[in-house]
Amino acid sequence: VRVYVPRDTTALSLGANAVADRLHREAAKRGLELTLVRNGSRGMAWLEPLVEVDTPAGRVAYGPVSPSDVPALLDAGLLEGSDTHPLAQGPTEAIPYLERQQRLTFARIGVTDPLSIADYQAHDGFRGLEAALTYDAQHIVEEIKASGLRGRGGAAFPTGIKWQTVLDTPADQKYIVCNADEGDSGTFADRLVMECDPYLLIEGMTIAGLAVGATQGFIYLRSEYPLAKEILDAAIANAEAAGYLGDDLRGSGRTFHLEVRLGAGAYICGEETSLLESLEGKRGLVRFKPPLPAIEGLFGLPTVVNNVLSLAAVPFILSEGAEAYANHGMGRSRGTLALQLAGNVKRGGLVELAFGTTLRTLMEDFGDGTATGRPLRAVQVGGPLGAYLPESQWDLPLDYEAFAAESAVLGHGGVVMFDDSVDMAEQARFSMEFCKVESCGKCTPCRIGSTRGVEVIDRIRDGRDREANLALLGDLCETMIDGSLCAMGGMTPFPVQSAVTHFPDDFRRTAEGEQ
Ligand code: NAI
Ligand code: SF4
Repeated sequence: VRVYVPRDTTALSLGANAVADRLHREAAKRGLELTLVRNGSRGMAWLEPLVEVDTPAGRVAYGPVSPSDVPALLDAGLLEGSDTHPLAQGPTEAIPYLERQQRLTFARIGVTDPLSIADYQAHDGFRGLEAALTYDAQHIVEEIKASGLRGRGGAAFPTGIKWQTVLDTPADQKYIVCNADEGDSGTFADRLVMECDPYLLIEGMTIAGLAVGATQGFIYLRSEYPLAKEILDAAIANAEAAGYLGDDLRGSGRTFHLEVRLGAGAYICGEETSLLESLEGKRGLVRFKPPLPAIEGLFGLPTVVNNVLSLAAVPFILSEGAEAYANHGMGRSRGTLALQLAGNVKRGGLVELAFGTTLRTLMEDFGDGTATGRPLRAVQVGGPLGAYLPESQWDLPLDYEAFAAESAVLGHGGVVMFDDSVDMAEQARFSMEFCKVESCGKCTPCRIGSTRGVEVIDRIRDGRDREANLALLGDLCETMIDGSLCAMGGMTPFPVQSAVTHFPDDFRRTAEGEQ
């Protein structure tokens, strides 16, 4: 019997290795035969460690399993897929959290052994690359354009147009750089791709290389993801051995090489130009644009810089066709969005949905409310630079344009929930402080503005000249928006202003909590 116990960072941090050990030992003691497969996570963090068992009717799930549950689970018939134990979740694919998703990019996570090429191929892997090898470069770019894919790092720039710019810029050497510096609060979708389905990213980057004429790729990975590094390095070596990377891709005579480079803990290195500086071995200072990286990027050469999720969407588009992808979504937001439910939520995890679902559906139907059971009060979408949304905005559809119209962003899809015990003035202070700590220091509105912003919010919270300081905070936010060079200083005011606008009472409390 095949038994699956995930080995991604989430499952490991919740004790998956101890569960796997206990399963081994208990089975040996009882003379039971089982083959343990270390898969990736299905993305249902609230059920991890999620143990799955192969049955003639498909895989059935148990979770969250702790080592001490193992003997009782075996007594209850775990290996036969019995549903009598309280941790039994029934057929995995029928768990409503999974069943109601549209998994295009994340179709394979948790299903396969992340490092098995045979498993990847058996689940449609490398079909996009095989197709791309039969097309010319312009045809691949046209497919990406027709799919409507937009940058999933947050800026939502059309990926096909970015690739076209690189394809049209002549150079002896071009690069594909994957931005895997996933630094937004509450986000983990990039990590899930890299740890649970690494060949997907490798395949997407290789297709990008074929599309624009680049023969070298770099994955710029945050150093806080050591397991992703280990898995990517092993996957790259396996892909080279199998002819999916290297000098003669599947006998085509085409070349693509790939390496992982580690960041050093700076949030700003997720901004594409400071990422390139860092990759060149320099301090992560933001560059002026233009020139665009697509024209003068890494070492001054034409470079595609795409987020993990943008590149991971590419194999599906090439294997299933642009239309199959574009058929999902609403308006100009085509395809699916990887939402990451985090913060004070009962059922945190990855939810891949076509654009257009409301935030309320996401937080209530998938998230099942707060972990504390207290009323939900605010939600921050799009990382530390995203706005805080009050209940009046929870019926907004998840769509780039609908969010932009409300001065909010979808960003990289991070959704951090807060219950009614949150102090929004404290959150506003945190946003300014985050900017103060992470600013690269190149421009004044961000470097000095965020420091002054913390001081002004402190005065407001202490009740010193409160109304005058609130007006000053408004002016400061305008200056940061208008005068900052990049999104760090330019977007920090979004969470601050949304907190002031939608939760005004929190800024007018005295130290004793009176209004
Ligand atoms: P941007 O709008 O300046 O550029 C978007 C992308 O399009 C860049 O790669 C740019 O080089 C490219 N581009 C623009 N015009 C082009 C053209 N004509 N041809 C080819 N390429 C072109 O946005 P930026 O500064 O790169 O990113 C800001 C966004 O990042 C924010 O909207 C925010 O949501 C997001 N963000 C994401 C974070 C994360 O951790 N994923 C963290 C912070 C912000
Ligand atoms: Fe650097 Fe901040 Fe200016 Fe961006 S806005 S370039 S992070 S100082």
